[in-house]
Amino acid sequence: MSLATGTNITLEAALREAEERFVAANPASQRLHARAAEVMPGGNTRTVLFYGPFPLTLSRGEGCRVWDADDHEYTDFLVEYTAGLYGHSNPIIQGAVEAALSEGIVLGGPNLLEASFAAALCERFPAVERIRFCNSGTEANLFALSAARGATGREKVMAFRGGYHGGVLYFAGPNPLNAPFPMVMADYNDIEGAVALIEQEGASLAAVIVEPMLGSGGCIPATPEFLQALRAATEKTGALLVFDEVMTSRLAPGGLHGVLGLTPDLVTLGKYLGGGLTFGAFGGRADIMDRFDPRRADAWSHAGTFNNNILTMAAGLAGLTQIYSPKAATLLNRRGDKLRQRLNAAAERLNLPVQVTGQGSMMCLHATAGPIRRPADVAAMPKALRDLLHFDLLAKGQYIARRGMINLSLPMEDADIDRFVAAFTDMLESRKSLIAQSAG
Ligand SMILES: Cc1ncc(COP(=O)(O)O)c(C=O)c1O
Repeated sequence: MSLATGTNITLEAALREAEERFVAANPASQRLHARAAEVMPGGNTRTVLFYGPFPLTLSRGEGCRVWDADDHEYTDFLVEYTAGLYGHSNPIIQGAVEAALSEGIVLGGPNLLEASFAAALCERFPAVERIRFCNSGTEANLFALSAARGATGREKVMAFRGGYHGGVLYFAGPNPLNAPFPMVMADYNDIEGAVALIEQEGASLAAVIVEPMLGSGGCIPATPEFLQALRAATEKTGALLVFDEVMTSRLAPGGLHGVLGLTPDLVTLGKYLGGGLTFGAFGGRADIMDRFDPRRADAWSHAGTFNNNILTMAAGLAGLTQIYSPKAATLLNRRGDKLRQRLNAAAERLNLPVQVTGQGSMMCLHATAGPIRRPADVAAMPKALRDLLHFDLLAKGQYIARRGMINLSLPMEDADIDRFVAAFTDMLESRKSLIAQSAG
């Protein structure tokens, strides 16, 4: 069946047609979703994985490919929202996990791997003098912010509109489920506004938490000047600066703080650093982190049954020390920069108000021609257009996030990237008039 691409078709009609094709092609995913919805609200246990009319159920993965329940093959450009950096079947990770499994798990004591993994992370990320593990990025941020409040004896936390630090630290709009920290909000990349607010809050502000590039917020990099201004202003008032590098630590050998030469007081980590297993970590200044030293009479408690779970320790250590070397990080991110340039060149050639923002191996598609400094600049992309482009890329065997996020993984080859550029260009060409009419 050919796509309806004529200039007279409306966005709504094109979307309806694309959705019908999707439903017809995916009966097993539809059936599995209906069954899941009987026992899980919306058939879902992780909101971001839902899209309408139902998400593809994935049955397996290998290298940089995934297959769905109807056995369609996709090149995986979602990369588990950056956590799938190593791909689906890296033999070094598999070997490390199998070796750990054969020695027994849930041992209930410090194990042989955790200190080596901690040492590798401290060596890699310059601002991390000491580190502690937990089980998710969300948990890492909750502990980092709580530690900042404990260390300063202050109450308030400042974050940025459009920032995402976990399911209960979500600032894209009102979120009734957010953790009840007293928050003050500023605009991303707004130096003057953020500095004024930090100064105004003065001795009541415990921490400023920031992603050095907004991830979920649309892969919008912070300017170095903005981050430097946050560092200077927090130093002045005594608030702690927390860099959430849960996603961005993959973008340079020592994370974005490393490449920018900035030293936040605390850094949070997660995603790929667990080697594909559940993971979170927070670390930073020794004098703050040492408050967790249980040998102290006044030690803060840090609990978590699976904090040092042996499978994550094994996979994370193997990944960081044997696969994602500083050189591998540099090369992967160089490839990402090149891909982003090629996608933007395709949009420019077609004179379309479409751009791909990001840095290195993380990027996001937006339908606007104007400058993008913060999420409000891209809010105008109609949902119908976003959904249509997603269906189109899926139909071409390219698996990306519904919201337009695209990430690279290590097993991708040049041919995979070339095919993605071709599919993307073809999609823009076939939807040219719709994009031109409806983009912001
Ligand atoms: C910047 C950032 N911080 C924190 C989190 C939360 O991590 P997790 O999903 O492991 O709780 C995410 C997840 O996407 C993230 O992108």
